[in-house]
Amino acid sequence: MHVALGSVWLLATAVVAVPVKDHPFKAPGKGDLRSPCPLLNSLANHGYLPRNGRNISSEQFYTGLADAVNLERALGDGPIAGAISTSTTGLPDTANLNDMAKHAQIIEHDGSLSRADTYFGDANSFNLSVWRQTKAYFRTPLITIAQAEQARQAAVRNAQRTNPEFSLADGEKTISVLETALYLYMFGNGTNGFANRRWTEILFEEERLPFEEGYARPKTPMNLPDLLVIAGKLNAVNVTAGGIYGRHHLF
Ligand code: HEM
Ligand SMILES: *[C@@H]1O[C@H](CO)[C@@H](O)[C@H](O)[C@H]1NC(C)=O
Ligand SMILES: *[C@@H]1O[C@H](CO)[C@@H](O)[C@H](O)[C@H]1NC(C)=O
Ligand SMILES: *[C@@H]1O[C@H](CO)[C@@H](O)[C@H](O)[C@H]1NC(C)=O
Ligand SMILES: *[C@@H]1O[C@H](CO)[C@@H](O)[C@H](O)[C@H]1NC(C)=O
Repeated sequence: MHVALGSVWLLATAVVAVPVKDHPFKAPGKGDLRSPCPLLNSLANHGYLPRNGRNISSEQFYTGLADAVNLERALGDGPIAGAISTSTTGLPDTANLNDMAKHAQIIEHDGSLSRADTYFGDANSFNLSVWRQTKAYFRTPLITIAQAEQARQAAVRNAQRTNPEFSLADGEKTISVLETALYLYMFGNGTNGFANRRWTEILFEEERLPFEEGYARPKTPMNLPDLLVIAGKLNAVNVTAGGIYGRHHLF
């Protein structure tokens, strides 16, 4: 659909200007590598990271993340160092996107929102049946903090039930919460949640930044303190009580 709509594409570039024009979406080609992270894959698909997904330096990660979504360096430090540490490039300070699927060592973990566990074979690419279970919890056009936490816990529970080798160490659970916090932050209202469900689906399902649908690079940098506020709210959701967190009701 994306490729076919040439005229809509032209219209969109005229209206949305810079991001789409300079960084057109292009699905990965043969030999291009991708990661378990929907955001990094989207960045590569828009050319904010090398489209081939290979031999990406930490500076390229920082710059791509800043240019595309205004992610501040301090927020990138941890994940970028983690990604580089999985490298198989043989070159200093670089990694391929699929290197970070290395299981349960640095970032990759069981119980993901849109990937199967390594036990089932492929923890790197998007898995529609896993994702369908997750997004069933997004019951309103704006995803609340409670819904997102309910979805995250369901993904963990499903993996735990079906994967005899399931494990999620404390540090990995923290990473899992931060990943949910990241999409809520990117597509939501500050630290309040209410992430645009359509934009979230586009990020996961098409690995595309939803510029045409109205997403814009934020003026204020995405920063670590804000992210941690959202993570704290996710941790405070009482799923037993029906996902009530403050006024963020699940149903
Ligand atoms: C705005 C910034 C970011 C957003 C919105 C984002 C979003 C996400 C989300 C939603 C997931 C969970 C996928 C799932 O559970 O199915 C994820 C996973 C992951 N992200 Fe990112 N991410 C961001 C930055 C980064 C950075 C900077 C890195 C590393 C350089 C990174 C590496 C990863 C990896 C390796 C995973 C796989 C973990 C797993 O599910 O096993 N992400 N990301
Ligand atoms: C890998 O990337 C680094 C840093 O961007 C660059 O200096 C080097 O030439 C690249 N090597 C290959 C084989 O592409
Ligand atoms: C998707 O994940 C499930 C496990 O949750 C697995 O059984 C299935 O084979 C995966 N599908 C693909 C295409 O990898
Ligand atoms: C967004 O959050 C602000 C407070 O930070 C609040 O005043 C506003 O009503 C919220 N808007 C929506 C659409 O939730
Ligand atoms: C969560 O809600 C349940 C049911 O309302 C309640 O019994 C439980 O004490 C709550 N847990 C916390 C930590 O507040």
